[in-house]
Amino acid sequence: MTQPALSPRFTNAFAEAVHAGLSHRPQKELPSMYLYDEVGSALFEVITALPEYGVTRAEERVLTAHAADIVAALPKHVQVAELGSGSGRKTRRILEALCKKQPTDYYPIEISRTALQLCRRELGDIERISIVGYERDYLAGLAEVSARRRDGEVLLVLFLGSTIGNFSRLAATKFLQSIRGMLKPGDALLLGTDLLKPLPTLIAAYDDAIGVTAAFNLNLLARINRELGGDFPIDAFEHVARFNPDARSIEMHLRAKRPLTVTVRATDLRVEFREGETIWTESSHKYAAEEVAPIAADAGFGCTHQWRDDTWGFAESLLVAR
Ligand code: AVJ
Repeated sequence: MTQPALSPRFTNAFAEAVHAGLSHRPQKELPSMYLYDEVGSALFEVITALPEYGVTRAEERVLTAHAADIVAALPKHVQVAELGSGSGRKTRRILEALCKKQPTDYYPIEISRTALQLCRRELGDIERISIVGYERDYLAGLAEVSARRRDGEVLLVLFLGSTIGNFSRLAATKFLQSIRGMLKPGDALLLGTDLLKPLPTLIAAYDDAIGVTAAFNLNLLARINRELGGDFPIDAFEHVARFNPDARSIEMHLRAKRPLTVTVRATDLRVEFREGETIWTESSHKYAAEEVAPIAADAGFGCTHQWRDDTWGFAESLLVAR
């Protein structure tokens, strides 16, 4: 039988993204969200425990030290939606403090089913909590949570871990505008941002001594081989972390150590690599603490509070929809 004329070129979004990204010129690229399959998510959990990667511990210190202040700064009764719950460990501090004050509905929004299950297991024992997970992308999930609430119910959105760092500054502003579009005046957004710091510290955080971040990055090629019938020789690529001073971001790349040709069966793709050519896989933008308020203002939020960890350099900002 012949293919129906209108069948989509690829049956899955990953295949489509790989085709587009590896055909992209002059810089080959792959979207960072695909780093987080089961292996990648497990490796990221290890990254958060590495001495070089201070981001997660810094945020845990802020949330532990200031959970009561954060809750005190919120409107009287809030429901909580979280964009990308991850394991749920950081969120525990806030939810515990909140649940002491009020019974709390918690809506984790995650594209990863595994992460949703983990977070239900991690947080389910908190007293007076009710957890309803949404297996959706961030904006679709938030639209649903926001649309379902009754009049007068106030929403607190959590966007922690410096995940916003994956967006360029312009894209971050647009993303915050989209979030704002789903909120009502008085709703709040708690935003975690990793801060600019000396270059050696930044680079080491994304190029650790025992190679966990390298494995996290290289896993993306292994995933293409596993899921899409690729034939990437993994050992012909090396992990690179470098600072982009114009964007103020750390970029992760995968660099071909020699000239080679790769094919990916599921996407009908043949790609050539020159020696030294890279695939750009992730950017982590770093902020000055004072930058958050003006960006928030552009997106229709007022920054009412900011709590910082100065040991590492991390800011948690409370933004209220105007
Ligand atoms: C989960 C996006 C916040 O950018 O710091 C860690 C991901 N990549 N090491 C980050 C990551 C390499 C992380 N975020």
